[in-house]
Amino acid sequence: MKPVPHIAALAPYALANLAPGLTSLAQNESLRPPSPKALEAARNALSETHLYPDPDWTDLRTVISDVHYITCGTILCGAGSMELIGALASAYLLAGDRMLTTGFAYLYFRTATQLSGAAFDLAPETDFTVDVDALIDAVRPETKILFVANPGNPTGTRIGLAELRHLRSALPDNVMLVIDEAYGEFADGLDDSSFDLVEQGNTAVLRTFSKAYGCAGMRVGWGVFPPKIATEMRKILNPNNVSGVSQAAAVAAMRDQDYMRETVRRTACIRDRFADRMRATSLHIPKSHTNFVTLAFDSAGVALAADDALRSDGIAMRSMSGYGLAQCLRATIAKESVMDRAAQCLERFMGGWK
Ligand SMILES: Cc1ncc(COP(=O)(O)O)c(C=O)c1O
Repeated sequence: MKPVPHIAALAPYALANLAPGLTSLAQNESLRPPSPKALEAARNALSETHLYPDPDWTDLRTVISDVHYITCGTILCGAGSMELIGALASAYLLAGDRMLTTGFAYLYFRTATQLSGAAFDLAPETDFTVDVDALIDAVRPETKILFVANPGNPTGTRIGLAELRHLRSALPDNVMLVIDEAYGEFADGLDDSSFDLVEQGNTAVLRTFSKAYGCAGMRVGWGVFPPKIATEMRKILNPNNVSGVSQAAAVAAMRDQDYMRETVRRTACIRDRFADRMRATSLHIPKSHTNFVTLAFDSAGVALAADDALRSDGIAMRSMSGYGLAQCLRATIAKESVMDRAAQCLERFMGGWK
């Protein structure tokens, strides 16, 4: 049996290297479980699992609409925002088309593009931060979609709303701008919203329950789409994409904004302390607006040796070599005791290295 050539040419998606027994700081998961209210709602929903889930995500869209002041009809939900990214690529990219993204952008943007048989371009970033002018310069006649994660993964940095607006206004109207805000709740200025850009008809904004809401294992993402794009997306999304248990949990998680904000607050405290401690060892760490930090070592060799030292101490960070950042490790922010162990290990390592 022969797969289609563009699938055969794809490398398998690079998963984290997680040997059993290691504490994972590799997947940008939340430092604490979902709200107890979400867990209770999930337990209650188990008794309904002989039924297919609500294909319209009615309760979930209602609560998202209430919390974010967005019209319900423009919201779509996915099995994680990855499903939404994939559906956008399937609906709008063909062989011969090009997707544009930033130099160190989330790798799944590329994978989803390649799954559609299309090609991609990377615009350079400046000091690990999206460079809007470089993106504008990199648009080609074949460019159909521009994906930008804001804040970015793995950089953790963000650009402001004014820059996003400038980007949109400088792009040709026929280039779709997809703003992926998987870490949006962690960004300073939680209430700044890019959702109104969707009204222009060629911009979509994605969010997820996987990060600040601590529901990565539930697989719930959502996005705001112009009506014409939403119609095409609905044809592609699996109508049973988000289980009833996950929908119930996500509804309760979103209603519990206090719990989510407390997760964000605790994460930011531990993150900033860890980052400062690491900067004191001379590592370069871009300012993060997410639940992870990226540690830039002097070279790929030093990063590899640091990764080995951490793994000997039972901790797995994520090598960023797949992003063209082989000199970097990305550390998800976990509980304070775990970050302390990681910091002590790296302080010893950096002390021995100098
Ligand atoms: C920038 C970005 N977008 C999307 C995702 C996918 O998240 P989800 O769990 O909602 O599929 C991730 C996950 O790490 C991410 O970092």
